[in-house]
Amino acid sequence: MSGSALLEIRGLSAGLQGRRSITQVVSGVNLDVHGGEILGVVGESGCGKSTLAAAIMRLLVLPQVLQSGTMTMRLEDGKTVELMELPDNELRHLRWRHLSYIPQGSMNSLNPVLRVERQMTDTLIQHGLSKKEALDRSIAALELVNLDTKVLQSYPHELSGGMRQRVIIASAVSMRPALIVADELTTALDVVTQRQILQELAAIRDELGATIILITHDMGVVAQIADRVAVMYAGKIAELGTVNDIFEDPQHPYARGLIGSIPRESGQRVEGLQGEAPSPWNYPTGCRFHPRCPEVFERCNQHTPTLQQRAMDRWVACHLYDAETEFDG
Ligand SMILES: Nc1ncnc2c1ncn2[C@@H]1O[C@H](COP(=O)(O)OP(=O)(O)O)[C@@H](O)[C@H]1O
Ligand code: SF4
Ligand SMILES: [Mg+2]
Repeated sequence: MSGSALLEIRGLSAGLQGRRSITQVVSGVNLDVHGGEILGVVGESGCGKSTLAAAIMRLLVLPQVLQSGTMTMRLEDGKTVELMELPDNELRHLRWRHLSYIPQGSMNSLNPVLRVERQMTDTLIQHGLSKKEALDRSIAALELVNLDTKVLQSYPHELSGGMRQRVIIASAVSMRPALIVADELTTALDVVTQRQILQELAAIRDELGATIILITHDMGVVAQIADRVAVMYAGKIAELGTVNDIFEDPQHPYARGLIGSIPRESGQRVEGLQGEAPSPWNYPTGCRFHPRCPEVFERCNQHTPTLQQRAMDRWVACHLYDAETEFDG
C-alpha cells in the first residue's frame, strides 16, 4: 500500500445480477482514500455512487453483486486487511469498530415506536457495552452534532429532519470509527441545515481524526466540505483531484459540465449538462460520456479512456489528453 492511504481500492467492479448475466454498474474503480481526508464522490443521479458506497462496505444486497477488485484497509496498529477476503464475522467486527456506513435515506429509517435513547444504545449494548457505557457514548456523540441530550427521550416523529439526520450521524460515530462512508447525507434538508450538518461533519473529522467518504450528487456540497473529489460518471471515475484544482480548472468535460450546472446565487444556471446519465443497461461504448460530450471526437466512441495521472494528485480519464499521456490504442 502507498504511504498515506487508509483505503486502497483497485479494480472494483459491481453489478446487478440478472437471470443470465450480470449488468455491470461500477466498472474497475481505482481510488486511494487518504487518512483524515474528506473525499467527495460526486456525479448525477444514477452514476453508481450508492452502489460504489455499498460495495466499499461490502453491504450490497441482491440483485447487487460484487464482481472483482481489492480493497485494502490500514488499521490503527499499522496492519492491513483485505476487505474483499475477510470472512463475514471479521467483517462485522471491523464494520463496528473501524468502518461506519450511513446509507442514503437513513434518516427515514429510525424506528417510529422507539425513543432515540433505545435506538442509539441498543446496538452498542448488543456489541458488548454496558448500559451506562452505551448511554455515555451516545451522549458524547450527540454533543458532536450539537444535539441536546433531551432528544434521547424523543420519538423520531417529534424531531425535525435535521435532528433525525444528526441522530443517525451520532449513532454512526459513537464507536469512533476510522472510516465513515456517508451517502447523500444532507440531500433532503434545507440549505441552512445542510450547511450546519456539513460543518458538524468537518468538526467530527477533526475531533475523531476520522476519514470520510462523502457521496453526493451536489457539487455545492463538495465545494463546502471536501478536500478532494472523485467525479463519477456511468460507473467510472472521470476525474480525481483536490477540490481547489478541480473547481479552478476542471479538465474532464463532465466535471466542467457539473461545475457549470451549480445554481448561481441569482438562480441562473450558466452552462449546464444536456441530457441525463445512462442506465447500466445502456452504457455507451468507448468513453461512456461521449453521447453528451461537447468535445467528443472520433476516437471517443470506440476507445475507452483510462484514468491517467496528469499532475500531482490529479487524474483524468479523457482522450483530450492522450497526446500528452501517450495514446496506445
Ligand atoms: N437494486 C437495484 N435494482 C435495480 N437497479 C439498480 C439497483 N441498484 C442500483 N440500480 C441501478 O444502477 C444504477 C446506479 O445506481 P446507484 O448506485 O444507486 O446510483 P447513484 O447513487 O449514483 O444515484 C441506476 O441506474 C440504478 O437504477
Ligand atoms: S474521451 Fe472524448 S467523449 Fe469522453 S470526455 Fe473526453 S472528449 Fe469527451
Ligand atoms: Mg445514490
